[in-house]
Amino acid sequence: MCGIIGYVGARQATPILIGGLRKLEYRGYDSAGVSVSSSGASKVVRCRGKLAALEEKLLKEPAPGTTGIGHTRWATHGRPSDENSHPHKVGPISVIHNGIIENHRALRNELAAAGAKFSSETDTEIFAHLVERALVGSADLAAAVRKSLARVRGSFAFVVMSDKEPGTLVAAKNSSPLVVGLGDGENFVASDVTAILSETRKVIFVDEGEMVVVKASGVVVTDFEGKVHPREPKIITWSAVQAEKGGFKHYMLKEIHEQPRAVADTLVGRIDLEHDDVLFDGIDLDVTKIKRIIFIACGTSYHASMVGEFLVEALARIPVEVDLASEFRYRDPILGPGDLVVAVSQSGETLDTMEAIREAKKQGAKVLAISNVVEASIPRLADYAFYTHAGPEIGVASTKAFTTQLVAMALFAIYLGRRTNKLSKERARDLLAELVALPTKMREIVESGAQIQSLARRYGSAIGFLFLGRGSQYPIALEGALKLKEISYIHAEGYAAGEMKHGPIALIDENLPVVVLAPRGPYYEKVVSNLAEVRARQGKVLAVATRGDQDIGSNADDVILIPDTALELQPILTVLPLQMLSYYVADFKGTDIDQPRNLAKSVTVE
Ligand code: AGP
Repeated sequence: MCGIIGYVGARQATPILIGGLRKLEYRGYDSAGVSVSSSGASKVVRCRGKLAALEEKLLKEPAPGTTGIGHTRWATHGRPSDENSHPHKVGPISVIHNGIIENHRALRNELAAAGAKFSSETDTEIFAHLVERALVGSADLAAAVRKSLARVRGSFAFVVMSDKEPGTLVAAKNSSPLVVGLGDGENFVASDVTAILSETRKVIFVDEGEMVVVKASGVVVTDFEGKVHPREPKIITWSAVQAEKGGFKHYMLKEIHEQPRAVADTLVGRIDLEHDDVLFDGIDLDVTKIKRIIFIACGTSYHASMVGEFLVEALARIPVEVDLASEFRYRDPILGPGDLVVAVSQSGETLDTMEAIREAKKQGAKVLAISNVVEASIPRLADYAFYTHAGPEIGVASTKAFTTQLVAMALFAIYLGRRTNKLSKERARDLLAELVALPTKMREIVESGAQIQSLARRYGSAIGFLFLGRGSQYPIALEGALKLKEISYIHAEGYAAGEMKHGPIALIDENLPVVVLAPRGPYYEKVVSNLAEVRARQGKVLAVATRGDQDIGSNADDVILIPDTALELQPILTVLPLQMLSYYVADFKGTDIDQPRNLAKSVTVE
C-alpha cells in the first residue's frame, strides 16, 4: 500500500520525509519520491526502487526547503517506473495520493481534450492537473483542492502543495487513511501514524470527507465544502511496533479488519451501474471464442479458483476446470485454441503457477492473470492482467488477498455472463448491488470478534478439526482448514459435506470440533442432515449460518450468524469467521501468527 508523509515547519523537510517513509517501508512499495519547497520553488526527486535509491539520487540532486511531501508508491494504475512515481508535479502543484480515482479515464480524456499534457500513466496526475487549472488566477490552494475534489470519485488520501502558497499543505480524505501530527511550530500529515510517531504523539485522525489545511502555525480541519470541523487531538500511546500494525496485535488481524476496504478497492472502477455490467479495463478478451476456462493456482488462490468455477459455470455457462498449478504440467494437459487459462496468485511470483503458465502458453492458450501485485512476474508473463488492489499483505496467511480474489471471480463471472447472454441484465444488476453492499456486511462480521474469540478459547485445545461445506462452501471449508493448519499447527481437514459419510465420519467423537458452513440456500437442508450425523456421534458442531435462521440453534453446539447476501457471493462472507477462528485459536496457542514456521509469503521454488 502506498505511504504518505508531509511536513511544514522550520527544519529541513527532506530528512524528516525520508525518515517517515522508512517507517512505512514494511508495507511494501516499488518507487518513492519527495517534493520539497524552498520559498515557493518546489523540487521533485523521485525514482523507481527502494528508498536507498531515492536517497542516492537526493545526494546528487538535493531538495532543500522546510515544506515538503513524500510518498512510497505501490503500483495500481501504471507500472512501477520513475515517471509513475509520486509526487506528480503540474505547474506549481505537487500531489501525492493513496487510493484509486474511479473516473480517471473520463477525466483524462476531458483534460487531454482541453490541452493537458500527461507525463505518467497514473490516475494521480489527473488530480494535479485539476488543481492546477482550478488555481488559475488565484492563490487559494484550499479552494482549488475543494473544487477539484468535486470532480473525482473513488478512494483517496491526497496531499497537495503549491508554489503559489509556500508553507501550506492541503490534504483530503475519502476511504484511504490520513492522520495529522501536531508539533511545536511544525506540523505533519501522514497516511499512518507510524510515519510520524518519532516526531509527535499528538494527532488528529482525519475523517471521511474531511480536508485539512496544514501550516507551521496550525491546522484547520473542514469538510469538502469548507465548513470548519473543530477537532480535539488524541495522544497516541502505542509503541512504534504496535503502530505499524495499526494498533492490532498482529498483521494478520489488521489485514482481516482491512477486508471491507480492500474489497471496496477491488470494486472501484469495475462496476458500471448504468449498464448493469462489469468493466474490464485494458482486458480485451473475445469472450465468444472461449470454449473452456482452466484456473491454475496454489494454496489459498486455488481455493479462490474453485469458487471461481462455481461462479463462471453458474453465471456464464462456460465449462471450467481447476488445476493445482504444481500438478498442471505433469499431467500433460490438453489445451486448444478455445481455452482461456486463468492464473490466480496473490503474490504474482509463485513459481509453480509461472511454470504452469509457460506450459499453457507453449500450447497456444491465452492466459489471464489475477494478481494482487502489479507488474509481478505472473501478470507480466500473462496476456492479460486483472489486479485485485487489496494492498500489500504482510501476514503469511492470506486473508484480504483471498476475499479480493473472490470478488475478482464474481466480477469475472458477471462480465462473462453478460457477454455469453446467460446472465440477464436484471440478475447482473442484483448481483452488482449485492457486491457494492458487501463491505458493510464484511465490516459487521470482522467487528464481532468477541464471540469468535470465546469459541476459539473453548475449542482451541482440540487436536484436530473438520470443516464441512457443500457447493461453493466446499472450497471455503478447505480454506478454513488451511488457515487453521497454517497458523495454529492444528491438523484440520476440509471436506465436501456429502463426502463425510464416505470416510471422515470415522473420526467423529466428542473431541473433534466440526465447523459446518450452513448459510441459507439450496443445500441448507442437506447440510443440516450432515450436521445431525455429526451430533449423533457426539461430535461438537460449530455452524456458520445466516442471520434469521431460527432452526440452526437446535442442530449445533455453537452458531456464528452472519448477514445474508446473494447465494453466489456467500463465500466472501462465510470465510471471514473461519479466518477469525484460526487467528484466535493460534493466538490462544501463542504461535508466531504472522510468520508461521516453515512457511514463506512468496513460494518461488518448485
Ligand atoms: C495462503 O495462506 C498461503 N500462504 C499459501 O497457500 C498461498 O496461497 C500459496 O502459496 C499461493 O500463493 P500465491 O497466491 O501468492 O500464488
